[in-house]
Amino acid sequence: MQAQRVEVIGSGQTLGAMIQGLDLANEISGSQFDLILRALGAYGVICFPRQGLTALQLKSFSSLFGELEVNVANAYQEPGIPEVMILSNILENAKPIGLADAGQGWHTDMSYSRTIAFANVLHAIKVPVRNGVTLGATQFSSMHAAYEDLPADKKTRLEGLTATHDFAKFWDMMRDRGSQRPPLTEAQRNAKPPVSHPVVMIHPITGRKVLYANPGYTVRINELAHEDSDELLNFLFAHQLQQKYRYEHRWQEGDVLMWENIGTIHNAVADYGPDEPRLIRRCQVMATMPWRRRNGGASGALDHAGDAIARHTRST
Ligand code: SIN
Repeated sequence: MQAQRVEVIGSGQTLGAMIQGLDLANEISGSQFDLILRALGAYGVICFPRQGLTALQLKSFSSLFGELEVNVANAYQEPGIPEVMILSNILENAKPIGLADAGQGWHTDMSYSRTIAFANVLHAIKVPVRNGVTLGATQFSSMHAAYEDLPADKKTRLEGLTATHDFAKFWDMMRDRGSQRPPLTEAQRNAKPPVSHPVVMIHPITGRKVLYANPGYTVRINELAHEDSDELLNFLFAHQLQQKYRYEHRWQEGDVLMWENIGTIHNAVADYGPDEPRLIRRCQVMATMPWRRRNGGASGALDHAGDAIARHTRST
């Protein structure tokens, strides 16, 4: 059988591309891996349409890119595969099969963690549709564009600043908005104490500066007095959400959507009802591999891609 041509088609917007011609259930070659990583750097969010993956195959593909997180909430995991979390509003025997309101607010995953997230990989099994229109989109905003667009005096001010990120901020905000999530236990809070990260980071694929702060988890700029910190954070949150940096993914069943979490923030749109089923499997890839372009970014080659493929081949 003839191999399908692999093609990357950009959305023409600030973020977003589709990669056609790859079946993620198959082994990914070194050159295909490089292409995916390069596309992630260039487009931030990439969709692989019409994928028929098992939960184990999703885990296997995701783990090419780094270690996988087991969510601190320790619930709604695929049986026997804790790295695969279920996001869903479906009830079985009156019990939720997944986290019903994951990501419904602007954030980037795992900024609350000492080892931050590199990427998310989501596989859509059921997508709500009303009157022929798909619901439950995921929106993104580009933190490369947001940083580059900052006024020069703000860029200077942000140099060397660090911010505190707290897992509990998003969870508590969702409960305040009426979420059915149980309160975090003391043990869960202790498992994820607040952490600090630089407000401006060098993106590991592009080598460019990005704004690393988000309304979901960032609580404080450490070097500033409380009032000044609040003022600067409010400015940054409004700035980073401007429409011109945004991109929206409207899901189709079978989509695998992968995005990198260092140069983007995202929001899951809650525009569907409890009787409009949505079911997504999710892996979170931690930033445990130093994806840096060789020769300062001039060459096409990416360090460690080969290592990852070797690791994957050994473990499958
Ligand atoms: C997430 O924030 O990881 C969930 C996104 C979604 O379900 O659309």
